Amino acid sequence: MLWLKALHIIFMVTWFAGLFYLPRLFVYHAMAEDQTSRERFKIMERKLYYGIMTPGGVLTIIFGTWLWLGYGITGGWLHAKLALVAVLIAYHLYCGKLLSDFKHDRNRRGHVWYRWFNELPVLLLIGAVLLVVLKPF
Ligand code: HEM
Repeated sequence: MLWLKALHIIFMVTWFAGLFYLPRLFVYHAMAEDQTSRERFKIMERKLYYGIMTPGGVLTIIFGTWLWLGYGITGGWLHAKLALVAVLIAYHLYCGKLLSDFKHDRNRRGHVWYRWFNELPVLLLIGAVLLVVLKPF
C-alpha cells in the first residue's frame, strides 16, 4: 500500500505542476502582442496539458481510487476531499477549453482574469492535503 500512496503523491505533484503553470502561461499568452510569441505559447500549453498535466491527473485518480476501494480507506474527510477533487477535475477540463480558445486565437479574457483564475488550484491543494493528513472528521 505504501508504494501506491507514494505513486499517488508523485502524480499529484505532477498534476499540480500543470495546474499551476498552465494558467500562468495563459496570463502571458493573453498579454502577447506578436504572433510568433502566441505560436510559441500554443506549443508550450499543448505539451504541458497533454504531456504532463492530464497523465498526472489520471494517475493521481487511479492510485487514489485504488487506495480508497482497494484498502477500504474512507471517512468523512475522504468524501470532502473527493468534492474538492471534483472541482479540480472541472478546473482541469475548463483549462482544456481555454487551451482550445487560445489555439484558435479566440481568447477574449485579459491577463488580470487569468491571474485570479490561477489562484484557485492553490486553495484546492491546501484543502485536500489538510483533509487527508489531519482527517478532521
Ligand atoms: C479521486 C481522487 C483521489 C482519491 C480517491 C484519493 C484517495 C486517497 C486515499 C484513500 C489516501 C490514503 C489515506 C491514508 O492512507 O491515510 C490518499 C492519500 C493522499 N492523498 Fe489522495 N486521493 C485523491 C486525490 C488526491 C489529490 C487531488 C490530492 C492533492 C491535492 C491528494 C493528496 C493526498 C495525499 C498528500 C495523501 C497522503 C496522506 C498521508 O499519507 O497521510 N489526493 N488519497
